[in-house]
Amino acid sequence: MVTTVDTAPLLEMSGIRKSFPGVQALSDVSLRLHRGEVLALMGENGAGKSTLIKTLGGAHQPESGTIVIDGSPVDLSSPMAAIAAGIGVIYQEFNLIPALTAWENIFLGREQTGLFVDRSTERQRAAALFERLGVDVPLDIPSRQLSIAQQQLVEIAKALSQDVRILVMDEPSAALTPQEVDKLFAIIRELRSQGIGIVYISHRLDEIFEIADTITVLRDGQHAGDAPTSEMTRQQLIELMVGRSIENEFPKHPAEIGDSRLVISGLCRGSTVKNVSFDVRRGEVLGLTGLVGAGRTDVVRLIFGADTRDGGQITLDGKALNIRSPRDAIRAGVCLLTEDRKSQGLVLCRSVRENFGLPSVRHLSAFGVMQQRQERTAFSAFVDSLSIRIPHQEQPARNLSGGNQQKVVLAKWLQVNAKVLIFDEPTRGIDVGAKHEIYQLMNDLTAQGKSIIMISSELPEVLGMSDRILVMHEGRISGEISDVPTTTQEELIKLAIN
Ligand SMILES: Nc1ncnc2c1ncn2[C@@H]1O[C@H](COP(=O)(O)OP(=O)(O)OP(=O)(O)O)[C@@H](O)[C@H]1O
Ligand SMILES: [Mg+2]
Repeated sequence: MVTTVDTAPLLEMSGIRKSFPGVQALSDVSLRLHRGEVLALMGENGAGKSTLIKTLGGAHQPESGTIVIDGSPVDLSSPMAAIAAGIGVIYQEFNLIPALTAWENIFLGREQTGLFVDRSTERQRAAALFERLGVDVPLDIPSRQLSIAQQQLVEIAKALSQDVRILVMDEPSAALTPQEVDKLFAIIRELRSQGIGIVYISHRLDEIFEIADTITVLRDGQHAGDAPTSEMTRQQLIELMVGRSIENEFPKHPAEIGDSRLVISGLCRGSTVKNVSFDVRRGEVLGLTGLVGAGRTDVVRLIFGADTRDGGQITLDGKALNIRSPRDAIRAGVCLLTEDRKSQGLVLCRSVRENFGLPSVRHLSAFGVMQQRQERTAFSAFVDSLSIRIPHQEQPARNLSGGNQQKVVLAKWLQVNAKVLIFDEPTRGIDVGAKHEIYQLMNDLTAQGKSIIMISSELPEVLGMSDRILVMHEGRISGEISDVPTTTQEELIKLAIN
């Protein structure tokens, strides 16, 4: 590991300002990055992290400020200019062309940068990149058929395929499992030892303390502070980000656990879900974990009627359910918060208020048919409790920061009067303060006797918030843990890869 830090920074951004209508996203922000340094860029949802790195990637033009690389000012007027300056960016929102394969996406547009490689060797180079990442991504199918994790890996491979001096990663781990994150970290360490400067964004604090040399915190579009990681405690970092201390990151209040509510037996679909049986009880949070591709999402999609099952029964409160579509599921009182907020959770061109009150949800909601005004009031309550950062409720969902989009999707489902709530990675990309609020809301829901199935790859969250845990492996339940407080992350990982 190289931690020799040169005195002259590799990158110096200073006085960066950027605004959008009604939002001052960045005001006078500076950032310094040295060769061989991993800098964690931290801050709440909407703090301005992605906006800052978009100015570095040439995707946004700041209104003022300077960017100096290796002592020379650079003009990053386009993404191509940034690539030419040796800056590689993995954006939070994927930029893959759905119809192209993984390797076509990796080398897309390279002709224009003079880095064109022969088409026949491109596929091979892509295969080598995935091998280096230690992951298995199908090379020849359209990217739209890849899972979210696989799409993320394509984005990572794409950035690694460029010859970069500065590599920026905006929440690269959000869709990855702990094993994949380990592999990513091995690569980051290798790049660091080659003297590459890395900016790493993540809401997972464990990762920051594992990989980052230094931490820079943004708050409300301003520089809130920075320090070497070794000089900052977890509590100090949280306080710097959210402006208050959070004593207990997982504020689990076990509810009174009642009878079996949702009973799944012999659920199957092709080779993805193999004879899965389990139950969820009243007032219970059932954690569902495992590797990406283990079949967790496939199982809940079958329960929700988003996919058709080959076999198996579902009963709710002792009554057999015949769920053939999400509509049937919602009617029966079963809701699913999907992991893919962009394509399944939100209509990006519509306002956040409209997304919150989407008709299918609206007429089945606890409020009956909601009037716009009621909808607005109901939504305001969530804007407060989840601290959703929006200039007004009519803001198109597209313009929200990643984490705030996730909060809107969550609010949409929390207002529905469901008996069983299925959350697929509910806190992905959500800042530590809002995570805490979501956990409190989960406590409230279970206290009302509702049941929650929580899919999560974040093991501290699974261990911190579940009453019981199921682990999946290759389409089957590979383990059940009833005594959660005495269980360790290692035990969960062992069951997931067995
Ligand atoms: N294209 C845009 N139009 C309008 N507002 C925008 C646009 N892009 C970003 N914003 C606003 O700028 C602010 C900063 O957003 P940004 O995406 O940089 O946050 P972030 O720190 O990356 O948050 P997250 O952790 O949720 O990803 C937010 O208030 C966001 O709504
Ligand atoms: Mg962001």
